[in-house]
Parts: sequence; structure tokens; C-alpha cells
Amino acid sequence: MKVLVIGGGAREHALCRSLSLDPDVNALYCAPGNAGIAEVAELRPVDALDGAAVARLATELEADLVVVGPEAPLVAGVSDAVRAAGIPVFGPSAEAAQLEGSKAFAKDVMAAADVPTARSYVCTTPEEVDTALDAFGAPYVVKDDGLAAGKGVVVTEDRAAARAHALGCDRVVIEEYLDGPEVSLFAITDGVTVLPLQPAQDFKRALDGDEGPNTGGMGAYSPLPWADPKLVDEVMETVLQPTVDELRHRGTPFSGLLYAGLAITSRGVRVIEFNARFGDPETQVVLARLRTPLAGVLLHAANGTLDTEPPLRWSADAAVTVVIASHNYPETPRTGDPIEGLAEVAAEDGPDTYVLHAGTRREGEAVVSAGGRVLSVTATGSDLAQAREKAYKAVARIRLDGSQHRTDIAAKAAEGR
Ligand code: AMP
Ligand code: GLY
Repeated sequence: MKVLVIGGGAREHALCRSLSLDPDVNALYCAPGNAGIAEVAELRPVDALDGAAVARLATELEADLVVVGPEAPLVAGVSDAVRAAGIPVFGPSAEAAQLEGSKAFAKDVMAAADVPTARSYVCTTPEEVDTALDAFGAPYVVKDDGLAAGKGVVVTEDRAAARAHALGCDRVVIEEYLDGPEVSLFAITDGVTVLPLQPAQDFKRALDGDEGPNTGGMGAYSPLPWADPKLVDEVMETVLQPTVDELRHRGTPFSGLLYAGLAITSRGVRVIEFNARFGDPETQVVLARLRTPLAGVLLHAANGTLDTEPPLRWSADAAVTVVIASHNYPETPRTGDPIEGLAEVAAEDGPDTYVLHAGTRREGEAVVSAGGRVLSVTATGSDLAQAREKAYKAVARIRLDGSQHRTDIAAKAAEGR
């Protein structure tokens, strides 16, 4: 099978790594990719937001499957363009990707499907904003309706800050604050059949102890030893299957990766958000544990034949990933700094510890930083404590001037807290 992956972050590196290990994959391309992905896939330049260009590239490469990684191309209709060219694509249509592209749309789908989520108001005027803020009280949760690359959500005790964020958006969702640990649960679906993956937890704040600004994610781990073993079944029944059914009934079936961001509250599981793609950095730990070869599952989802796929097989190992971010991330990340130590990790740390590249590029012989999140160091071990130790050992080998990482990824869970 010839597979083309669209995107160039750590999620796409994790996808390409898994696909490169799949014996059914005999040619693997990534567009545009990054310096790390180049080691497992052949890179092609492309404007990932240009559906016609992606479809042309897929046709030229005679791809049997196109996997669209990030949300922006999905919302821009890249999957639709590839599908129209007659090539199977893993990734929802632009209409179904509105589940991530518009928080108001997602709320409407959840209301129709009876999916548990925070109570909310959609506001377009200052009066509506004030009414909603007063209705819920502090802490205030204010979400830009559209795609904002992780920067659209403000959670604050400060009413003036909440109001200012709301008035800076054309349309906002203001909602009830949800208390409790967060879980990311992904499912692969063809629009009818839903195959859940294993849950993971992401660390969204920049600093240890969940302090500092929200980021795209600073680390993740899986499995979740503290979670109820029935969690996946419950979320399948109350969230994933009803959402997939609702979108199909609307005539806009969702096929691809449905990402449920959940809060485990004292009153039960609630959806915080949906995404229409694999999450980053959770994908790094979830795919590290997946034993079923990936390409066939994604192709079945693309072709609408997921009902023929047996349940996914998982490793009993635990996985931890730690993100290394650039100086000044997330505000104004500095780029262009050389990265050293990558060869040492590859030479010294064994096959269960590896570096996935997020924002990197090659400059002659050197690999330099090219984004806010630069690398994601992933390790598996017999339990979370061992996976953590291996991941942090590799993190310590990597040198990037001014870089930052959290030191407490999976720490509480590894200690049984
Ligand atoms: P989102 O972009 O929707 O994932 O939101 C970013 C982060 O804001 C989430 O991971 C949560 O930590 C927090 N958040 C979003 N919605 C809520 C909510 N209703 N209650 C509490 N925290 C929330
Ligand atoms: N890890 C959060 C996200 O991918 O949106």
C-alpha cells in the first residue's frame, strides 16, 4: 500500500513511524513533513491547505490512502478534494470537521444527540456576553467559536478578562466550568462503526503543577491507571456512537478520527471539546501502544468497511511523551536554534525510546528548531514509572538553547495518585 500523510508535526511523525512499521505499507510519503519525518518517509512539498494541490500530489504518487493530520486542512476541505479525485482518505469532510471548526456547531450536535457536556450560551453581542457570564459565575469559560490553534479558550476567575476575551471574538461560546481530571479518548470511525482507542491524558499548561498559560500540549501518558476500567465503554455509549450517528443522520457522516476531550466530573463524564483529528501529544503515546498494524485500520475507515476490522490489539506497556518547546513558547517562540543530542538518543537509549519531531527543519548537517513545540520524546516501559524514567533520560541528552519542558509529566499517575 502507498500512503501519503499530510502535515508536519509530531502527530504526523508518530503516524508515519507507525505506518513505516506496518508490513503492508511499501511506500510512505509525507507532505510537507519535517526533519524527523524525513527519516521514515519521503517528503514532498505541498501547501497542506490547498485541496487541489494535495489531490494532484496523491494522484501523481498513485497513493492508495491519504491521511490528513491537522485540523486546518480538514476544515478547508482537503479530504473532500482527495475523495473527489477517487482516492481513499482518512479524515472527515469539511462539513463534518465543523465538529472541531465551530464550538457552536459541536454544542448543537451534542444537544441533538443527548451527549453530556457543559451547559452553554452562544453569544454575539456584549449584552448576551454579560448575561452568560452572570448566569454561570466564576470561574468563567469563554471559547472563541472558530479554530484558534489552542489559543481560543480562556478559563479565568477574572470577569473583566473573560469579558475582554469574549468581546474580541465575533462569536463566542460561554459555558459552565467543569471540574475534574481531563481524559482524551480517540475513536476511529467510518461514519457508522466506531473503534475506540486507549485513553490518554494530556498536560495543557506550560509549567509544572499545571501553572502558566495554556499550550497545544506539553506531554501525555497512557494508560490511565486511575481511570474507571468501564470508562471507554461508557464514553462509547454516551458520547462517541451517538455523535457519529447524529452526524450521519444529518447527511454529513463523520469518517476519520473523532477526538473526545472529556472531564471526569463528580456528576459524570462531560465533553469539553471535540476535535476532528488525532490529538498532539496524545497520539504519540496511544500509537506507541497500538499493536494492530495501522494502515489497514485507517484504510477500512476511509472505505467504510470498519465493521470487518477485529478489535484493536494493545501492548500492556505504558507510554510517556515529554514535549520540548522553544524559548518563549507559547507567546513568541524563538526558532532557528540548533538541536543537539538526537544521535545520542538513537544510539544509547534503545528502540523503546525515540524522538518525534514537531517544529524542526534541516539546515545543512544541522537540525534546527522551527516552531513552538520542537520535539516530543516518547518512551515505553513496563509501567508509567519506567516509561517516565526512560523519557526523561533522553530529554536530558537533548540540547536546545533556551528550551523548556515540564518535569512532572505522568508523575502523579506513576505514583498511583
Ligand atoms: P479546548 O480548546 O476546548 O480544549 O480548551 C482548552 C482547555 O481549557 C481544556 O483542555 C480545559 O483544560 C479548559 N476548559 C475548556 N472548557 C472547559 C470547561 N467547560 N471547564 C473547565 N475547563 C475547561
Ligand atoms: N492535545 C490537544 C489537542 O490535540 O488538541
